[in-house]
Amino acid sequence: MHSPNDSRISINLPDENATIALAQRLAARLKPGMVIYLQGDLGAGKTTLVRGMLNALGYGGRVKSPTYTLVEPYHAAGLDLRHFDLYRLRDEDEWEAAGFRDEFNGQNIFFIEWPENAQGLIPQADIEITFEILPHGRNAEIHANTETGKQCLKQL
Ligand SMILES: Nc1ncnc2c1ncn2[C@@H]1O[C@H](COP(=O)(O)OP(=O)(O)O)[C@@H](O)[C@H]1O
Ligand SMILES: [Mg+2]
Repeated sequence: MHSPNDSRISINLPDENATIALAQRLAARLKPGMVIYLQGDLGAGKTTLVRGMLNALGYGGRVKSPTYTLVEPYHAAGLDLRHFDLYRLRDEDEWEAAGFRDEFNGQNIFFIEWPENAQGLIPQADIEITFEILPHGRNAEIHANTETGKQCLKQL
C-alpha cells in the first residue's frame, strides 16, 4: 500500500465505512497548521471524509457541506479547523471580501474542497487526497507534498 518514500498512497474504499475508517486514521495525525486538499467529483466522498475526521476528534454536532457559506469553522480536540467548499467561489474579489486570507494563520487546520477554484489564494497543501468514483466504492489517492504531510502519512 505504501510507496518507497511514503509520499503517495492509494487506498481502495469499498463503502462509506471504509471512508470513515480512513478519516479516523487521518484525524489522529492532524497537526495545527495542516492544509489538506480534497479533490474529486461531486459525490466522491470529500465531505464524508471531513465529517469522519471531525467526528473522530469528538465533534458531536452536524457537519454539513458549506456549499453557500464557503467555510464552516469547528473547534474539536483542542484544534481549530476550517472546512472550505470552494465549488461556488466566484473570484479573488469574493475571497478577499470574505476575509478568508486572515484564516491562514498557521494554527488552523484546513480541509479544502475544490481548491482549484482558489489557486494562488490558498497555501500549498501538506496532503492532497483525490477520490475516484468506482462502480463499487471509491479509490483515494493520497499524496504528501511537505515533510509535515509525509509524517502524517507514515504508517497510515
Ligand atoms: N467509499 C465509499 N463507497 C461508496 N459510497 C461512499 C463512499 N464514501 C462515501 N460514500 C457516499 O458517497 C456520497 C459522498 O457524498 P459527499 O461526501 O457529500 O461527496 P463530496 O463532498 O465529494 O461531493 C455520500 O452519499 C456517501 O454516503
Ligand atoms: Mg462536499
